[in-house]
Order: sequence, then C-alpha cells, then structure tokens
Amino acid sequence: MKARFLLVLSVGLTIPVTAAVAQDVTFTKDVAPILQRSCQNCHRPGSIAPMPLLTYEQVRPWARAIKQNVVLRNMPPWHIDPNIGIHEFSNSVALSDAEIATIAKWVDAGAPQGNPADMPPPRKFDDNDRWNIGTPDLIVEMPQDFVVPAKGPDRWPNIVADPGFTEDRYIKAVELKPVRGYKTIHHGGLTLIYPDGTQAMIQEYGIGKNAEVFPDGSGRLITAGTKISFSPHFHSYGEETMANLAVAFKFYPKGYVPKYVAITTLAGDDYDVDLPANTDNIRTDTYITLTKPTRVFSWEPHMHTRGKAMCMEVIYPFAGRRAGGSKVETLNCVFNYKFNWMIVYEYAPDVQPLLPAGSVVHFISWHDNTVKKEGDPDNWIGFGQRTIDEMSHAWLTYFFLSEEEFQQAVAERNAQAKEKLSASAGQ
Ligand code: HEC
Repeated sequence: MKARFLLVLSVGLTIPVTAAVAQDVTFTKDVAPILQRSCQNCHRPGSIAPMPLLTYEQVRPWARAIKQNVVLRNMPPWHIDPNIGIHEFSNSVALSDAEIATIAKWVDAGAPQGNPADMPPPRKFDDNDRWNIGTPDLIVEMPQDFVVPAKGPDRWPNIVADPGFTEDRYIKAVELKPVRGYKTIHHGGLTLIYPDGTQAMIQEYGIGKNAEVFPDGSGRLITAGTKISFSPHFHSYGEETMANLAVAFKFYPKGYVPKYVAITTLAGDDYDVDLPANTDNIRTDTYITLTKPTRVFSWEPHMHTRGKAMCMEVIYPFAGRRAGGSKVETLNCVFNYKFNWMIVYEYAPDVQPLLPAGSVVHFISWHDNTVKKEGDPDNWIGFGQRTIDEMSHAWLTYFFLSEEEFQQAVAERNAQAKEKLSASAGQ
C-alpha cells in the first residue's frame, strides 16, 4: 500500500502533467477539511490543545510544526505502528498516508491559502463534542473539587460518589475525563463498588485518553446500589488548581441484557521493572495467561515518562508443527509511546484477536533512562505508583467465550478471510 503510493507520488513529480498529483494543494481546498475532521476537536478555544487551528490565519504560523508532527505521526495522537500487526481499529484517528502527504506537500509549497470560496463551512461544536461516546445518558462528577497545591508530592485520593442507581443497567459506553484542572491530572482509575462490597475496575483515564465503547451485544453491568470510586492521580505543576473528574455513561435500553459482559484487566506483571541508570532501550517482558477462550476488544499500553515503545504478542499454546510447540504472533506495536497520551486502541470487530485458552499475551516494552525527565537518569528506577517511578503493562478489555463459541468465531473469521481473498483475486 505504502509502496504503491510512493510510486504514484514519484511519477507525479517526474512527469508533472499527471493530473491530480500535479495540482496545487491549498489550505481551503485540501488542508482545512483534514484539520476540521482530525484536529479541531482539540485545537479550538476551550479545548485541551495549546493553539486553535480553525482559520488560515491561525494555522499559517504553525505550518512547519504541523508538517513535522503529522509526518512523525505525533499528531493526531495515535501511536500504533501502521506497518506491523493488526491495522483496523474502530476508534482510529490516524491520518492516512495520502492525508499526511497532502499536508507535507502544502507546507513545502509555502502553505498557500488558495481560493477562499473553497473553504468548507466551519465545523460546529457543542459541549457534547467533549464526550467521545456521544451524548451521555448519565454524567457523574466527584462530589467536590480536589485542591491540588502548586507544589508537593503526587496524590492519589479515593473519592466515592453514589449516583443512586435503583435498577440494574448494562453499560454500552463509558468515558472518564477531567472537567476542571486537566493539567494536574495524570490519570485516574474508576472502580465500581457493588452493594456486596466486591469491586470491578471499569475505566482508566490518562491525559488525552479517549473512551471505551462496547461492541453491540456486549457491555458491562452496573447493579442497583452500585457506587463509583474515582481514584485520580494528581501531579502538582506549579499553580494551585481545583480539579475534578466526571464519568459519562451510555446505557443499553432498560431490560436489555447483552450476551457478553466485558472485563478490563491490568495485564502484565511488572513489579520487577528494573531500569539501570543512564541506559537506553531497556527491555522489559511481562506476561498474562488467558485461562479461557478470549475475544480481545482493546488494549492500552501503560508506562510512565521513560516509556518509548511497546509491542504486544501472543504465544499460542500447542500450535507449532512439532509436539508441544508454540507459535508467536505480533498483535500490535506502539512505536512512539507518549506518556501524555494514554490511548485505548479498539479493534474493529472483524479483527478482534481470538485467542484460545492457554494463550499467553506477552508485552515487550522499551524504556529510556538517559534523559532528565521526571527525575535524575543517574538513578536506578523500579516499579512504583509515582510518576517518577516506572511501569510496563497494558490494560486489556476482553470477554471470555465458551469453547463452542470460540470455534464458531474462528470458523466465521476463516470464512471472511477466504471471501476477502477470492474478492481480491477476482479484481
Ligand atoms: C486529542 C486531542 C488532539 C488532537 C485530535 C490533535 N491535537 Fe495537536 N495537540 C494536542 C495537545 C494537547 C498538544 C500539546 C502537546 C501535547 O500534549 O502533546 C498538541 C500539540 C500540537 C502541536 C505542537 C505544538 C507545539 O507547541 O509545538 C502541533 C503542531 C499540533 N498539535 C498539530 C495538530 C494537528 C495538525 C492535528 C490534526 C491532524 C492535531 N494536532 C490533532 C491535542 C490534539
């Protein structure tokens, strides 16, 4: 795909008469629609990005930085390596190779405005745009703001809210995010406390994080009387800040019971993270064993500021050609991990990994302990909760299948693959 595109581009450059490619790329015609769709939700007044990118006047001074950030795939924040593993995600905000080339070409040509009449009408935003799940059915805030002092150690309060649930409801989508003081909120966990005292981790927010939307027919249960516990992680940054988080839910209709109830697990035992001083590319391996057949919805790599990259692979049990052999397959890699952006990567339904019982999911991460980030690279760094400590795990969201359901899902997947193959052969 990539190779084919490059070929087209080079033909366009050497033989300038080639139609579409040789045309001038302008802001109003080519670039503004990309920015509207992929950038403006954050890059507009009142949202989380530092500068608005709505008009030509606002965008022009940033042209070089825009090219640099999109070419390196730092912006929009989506850090999956597109050249390895699974490609289709239902919540991807990544730009296509063609869109990146359009932006680069426009900047290289001097970032011309073009004909103002080509400018698309401005995108409309309302407050609901702040929720990636659409219009929520219910929003629950922490009962009061938390005051984060200008200076001080990190804080991890546990703050419980009682939304007054009087009946059981299944969750279709959930999103946790700061409503005030987002700068000071490193991440936050959200746990359901059921009336019998048992707890379930439900959502994890990290700066810039998106939402969790369950595929149709699957969800999560909130029983009557369930309370919600917020466990934000506050990090002082020099100004006293009032901070608060809210969680938004979308529910299935009353009485509807989804067939599958999803689980989110912290995957990968990273208590042994061991980062020697002044060392780069330090590899850590962590694992989780799946006891039952599993369909994976999403993963979210988690490291702290020294994290550089993480790959997730599966070791299939008894899958090799020799007795007792195993097989390994890379599912995905995040190649320019950014601590500021904790992103849930949600697989498109047709490519959700189907993993047999006994599969081991293996997380391989790389840290850089040479740069003065949250501390001194002369220090050894180990596992810990503070931002200056490190981690190497992922959040996995999945549900278990019965053996029969699993076999059926695999058969469907194989049939789909055959269909795709014969369709492409027929072209
Ligand atoms: C999810 C929100 C979000 C989206 C979507 C997004 N940005 Fe950003 N952008 C940010 C934030 C926040 C920053 C500040 C730096 C950081 O946190 O990474 C930033 C920083 C930048 C910077 C660097 C500014 C500097 O100071 O050097 C550029 C350039 C940029 N974005 C361009 C874009 C473009 C172009 C797009 C769309 C193709 C885009 N961004 C999409 C949130 C976003």
